[in-house]
Amino acid sequence: MRAAIFDKYGEPEVLTVAQAPDPEPGPGEVLIAVRGASINPIDWKIRSGMLADTAAPDEPMIIGNDGSGTVVAVGEGVTDVAVGDEVFGIGRAGYAELAVLKAYARKPTGVDHVAAAAAATVGETAIRALGLTGLDTSGRLLIDGGAGGVGSVAVEIAVGRGLTVIATGSPANHDYLRSLGATPIEYGPGLAGRVRAIWPEGPDAVFDVAGQTPAADLIALVAAPDRVVSIANFAEADSGIQLTEGARDQGPALRQVADLLAAGGLRVPVRTFPLDEIATAHRLSQDGHVRGKLVLEP
Ligand SMILES: NC(=O)c1ccc[n+]([C@@H]2O[C@H](COP(=O)([O-])OP(=O)(O)OC[C@H]3O[C@@H](n4cnc5c(N)ncnc54)[C@H](OP(=O)(O)O)[C@@H]3O)[C@@H](O)[C@H]2O)c1
Repeated sequence: MRAAIFDKYGEPEVLTVAQAPDPEPGPGEVLIAVRGASINPIDWKIRSGMLADTAAPDEPMIIGNDGSGTVVAVGEGVTDVAVGDEVFGIGRAGYAELAVLKAYARKPTGVDHVAAAAAATVGETAIRALGLTGLDTSGRLLIDGGAGGVGSVAVEIAVGRGLTVIATGSPANHDYLRSLGATPIEYGPGLAGRVRAIWPEGPDAVFDVAGQTPAADLIALVAAPDRVVSIANFAEADSGIQLTEGARDQGPALRQVADLLAAGGLRVPVRTFPLDEIATAHRLSQDGHVRGKLVLEP
């Protein structure tokens, strides 16, 4: 199969498209013919070497967690889907013509593979983090970093549940955030004042998506530190905020994402790239200002 591979850490150009052995699904896993593979920031963090303590991986690596496509083989114990079914989900080595999913849901009919691939990790993450805010169908939620992958989905889900949302973003994304149902404000210095100008009593909870605002600034807006839920500010784990890093069983959240996609409740804007343009896509993701998602079509 063709895949985007790298054998040393570094700039996006370390990624090259080459032939690689076909992967095999393990127990509980499925192998898909990939029709969409989305890019997440963890991908460029791995590729750059910032998460590694060696100069090069032990063997050539294929990265990418999110995929959508047609099942071509199932691992031991898989009985809920069969060869030929269309699924999307979270797995490994997704930047390729074939990829393994370890958690998956059926792709709704009428939703294309690109949209499904775009929604997998960000949908699971947004559902998990929103669950930790303690807000259910009402309340004021500040989403810090609302226009990227996780933020877009979090705004849509929160607004759909009935929450009132302020979302931060670059000025160029404010109309977009409004279109999702949030009140947009800029992030950066003075954030607390901008929030209190709209909500003098402050938010009931904060979802820190970007991990860029000092935890103390967000904690000062809410009743207690654990009213701040972050997926990215692991450097301030001692501040008392809640940090969350991946669910053990992602299947239930993916089935919720499938229901939301089927109901038209997620409209994440997507920019697509052929596999050969992986370096361009990685550079955009790494710049940190993507609106919605970037998806490869291998
Ligand atoms: N813990 C977990 O389970 C988990 C899961 C998924 C992702 N993550 C992490 O969560 C982070 C966000 O992921 P993502 O997929 O949403 O990334 P993304 O698609 O690249 O979006 C990044 C967002 O950050 C915003 N941003 C940039 N600088 C900011 C600042 N100083 N203050 C506030 N917002 C700022 C951008 O807004 P503008 O474009 O408007 O400037 C953009 O909306 C990444 O670090 C990722 O690794 C963690």
